[in-house]
Amino acid sequence: MRKRILVTGGAGFLGSHLIDRLVARGDDVVCIDNLQTGSLQNISHVRDQIAFVEHDIIQPLPELGEFHEIFNLACPASPVHYQVDPIHTFKTSVFGVLNLLELAKKQNCKILQASTSEVYGDPFVHPQPESYWGNVNPIGVRSCYDEGKRGAETLLFDYARMYGVTIKVARIFNTYGPRMDSKDGRVVSNFIVQSLRKKPLTVYGSGEQSRSFCYVEDLIEGFLLLMDTPKVVQGPVNLGNPYEFTMLELAQKVNMHTGNHVPLKFEALPQDDPKQRKPVIEEAQRLLNWIPSVLLDEGLQRTVDYFKNNLSIKSE
Ligand SMILES: NC(=O)c1ccc[n+]([C@@H]2O[C@H](COP(=O)([O-])OP(=O)(O)OC[C@H]3O[C@@H](n4cnc5c(N)ncnc54)[C@H](O)[C@@H]3O)[C@@H](O)[C@H]2O)c1
Repeated sequence: MRKRILVTGGAGFLGSHLIDRLVARGDDVVCIDNLQTGSLQNISHVRDQIAFVEHDIIQPLPELGEFHEIFNLACPASPVHYQVDPIHTFKTSVFGVLNLLELAKKQNCKILQASTSEVYGDPFVHPQPESYWGNVNPIGVRSCYDEGKRGAETLLFDYARMYGVTIKVARIFNTYGPRMDSKDGRVVSNFIVQSLRKKPLTVYGSGEQSRSFCYVEDLIEGFLLLMDTPKVVQGPVNLGNPYEFTMLELAQKVNMHTGNHVPLKFEALPQDDPKQRKPVIEEAQRLLNWIPSVLLDEGLQRTVDYFKNNLSIKSE
């Protein structure tokens, strides 16, 4: 069946890859984005196959017809961007999600929320299962994002309990790949861009803190399986790659893939930066039969190739 699907945040990194998959399978896609961090360049290759609406989801939604599904990805994802206007970021996760939930309730359509591993904060439990309630600073500089996303989850589960809305909550762990914003400070794009420009790689803290990195293709596959599964999904579902690497290991791998062996430059850790992150993905395996398949080396090579072709190496 050809579905009519609303993707918010569709001009961003993950949203544009999701739209590629939806268009490829023949769905009718409407993308809402306020272009705060996304760009029309990310969707230029499918622009004539989708409808694009420039709109901020914190405002009442325009009349766009009936949808079968809503994927809500609208929200700046990197600290550099979400801290520019923290109140707007918080509103995006609360007012924006409220607007979309009202639409899902009215139209009786499914809604998938792009939540985040940031709901676990700086975790005392490692690795993190969905049952862990997290350790989040409610008043720090990252709170607009972390608590906003937690508030969004609260709204989703209350709409499910009160009104029977079918919700899917994907807790996304670090995801990387082509079309990441080269300037938004996320570690994979930062390292790749610095290495390609032969500038020292900025490592925060000692570099011993760890993260797990999921390639974008794997993540989007998880999104689609989660939205499509006929099984009852009772709670949030972690989507991420469980292989863990320290920042020092990542830096070494990036240098290997660019072929530029640039030195490291150490700087102080940002406030509330989690020391370790790694998903338990048993729920995604059980419900969706999903596990990531792209190894870090393969994903990094593809991302390095993308930046080589799309970045003006001499521009900085
Ligand atoms: N990439 C990751 O590793 C990661 C990890 C965890 C969660 N997420 C979540 O996934 C989603 C997509 O992340 P991304 O990496 O593609 O980020 P991104 O910044 O590239 O994309 C976000 C998109 O949402 C748009 N947007 C932001 N606020 C909006 C608003 N109020 N109204 C309309 N559009 C708005 C932006 O312009 C952008 O196109 C986000 O919700 C993010 O929190 C991403």
